[in-house]
Amino acid sequence: MIGPLFLALAWWMLYWSPRADIPRLETAAVPRERFAAEARRRPMGSPPAAIMAGYSHPCNECHQLFQAPLEERRILMQHTHIALNHGLNKHCFNCHDRENRERLRLNDGTLLEFNEVPRLCSQCHGTVFRDWERGTHGKTMGSWDASSGLQHRLGCNDCHDPHAPAYPPIEPLPGPRTLRMGDQAEGAHAGHRRSPLGQWSQSGAAPPDMANPEGGHR
Ligand code: HEC
Ligand code: HEC
Ligand code: HEC
Ligand code: HEC
Repeated sequence: MIGPLFLALAWWMLYWSPRADIPRLETAAVPRERFAAEARRRPMGSPPAAIMAGYSHPCNECHQLFQAPLEERRILMQHTHIALNHGLNKHCFNCHDRENRERLRLNDGTLLEFNEVPRLCSQCHGTVFRDWERGTHGKTMGSWDASSGLQHRLGCNDCHDPHAPAYPPIEPLPGPRTLRMGDQAEGAHAGHRRSPLGQWSQSGAAPPDMANPEGGHR
């Protein structure tokens, strides 16, 4: 009973179902800067200096003049562009040194230069730091060859703002335009469907110019 019904249905689907009208997608235009390969931020490096009213000042130029008060949580009169948004990590002196503002400070009192930021972050983000050390978090630029001396591992603050480190949501790029492989219904009337790649492998012709996918196979 089921056998003939199934066959009839299969026959109907094979010969009478409307063929999908495969759309030709327009190539989405993506602004060039979305492919930017360089770092997101420019870290301060060492020695640090604050840019104020267009001039660069070493931190201690001001900070040697006065002591920070013990009351830390207050609205600052200086550095007002900093809005700390780092979860429970909400004290300036979790990371900055109270006496020497040109150094960062680990919880055990060790002072770090401003170009040693990953060690600072590693205190609380141990697993991410381990991944970063092994190259599975972050990014390496410059060269594939570790012995070339050109390899540069981006540091945490090349990407994350230490004061508000969460990444802003990333808008995905459009997917690849797979339909440029050609009309897949082409050749179907001749009794068989061709592989979408067949047009190049059989004729020996070169695949279409990737920079100009329209050009190759029209
Ligand atoms: C032009 C002077 C000036 C320079 C340069 C300067 N600061 Fe400050 N900074 C201040 C003042 C003034 C305050 C205190 C503001 C207040 O109490 O309202 C402050 C507060 C701070 C605090 C908050 C500490 C607290 O008192 O709770 C930190 C951290 C800090 N500065 C770090 C730095 C770092 C790091 C640099 C260098 C990259 C720097 N500052 C450069 C003037 C300066
Ligand atoms: C998670 C650790 C951390 C905390 C907490 C933190 N900072 Fe920073 N801060 C840094 C690091 C790291 C840099 C260097 C940034 C870079 O290289 O881009 C920096 C840079 C700065 C600078 C110089 C750059 C600039 O934007 O002017 C100032 C000023 C500063 N911090 C003030 C503060 C103040 C004030 C607070 C508290 C409200 C604070 N920081 C809390 C880690 C921290
Ligand atoms: C004293 C401990 C401490 C240090 C040092 C520290 N963090 Fe954090 N970090 C935290 C806490 C606490 C949170 C908030 C976690 C939460 O809210 O779930 C956080 C959150 C983050 C987040 C957001 C995670 C998320 O899921 O959105 C990032 C990214 C981050 N930190 C990066 C850094 C970087 C980069 C540094 C070094 C400049 C650093 N942290 C230093 C304690 C720390
Ligand atoms: C090349 C850029 C880059 C570098 C370098 C980088 N990160 Fe990240 N980090 C990211 C991105 C992108 C995410 C994912 C954000 C998301 O999922 O929304 C992320 C996520 C995180 C998170 C939250 C998610 C998680 O896995 O817990 C933490 C914490 C973090 N980074 C810490 C660090 C620390 C610490 C360093 C340095 C040792 C570092 N990052 C170096 C780009 C970077």
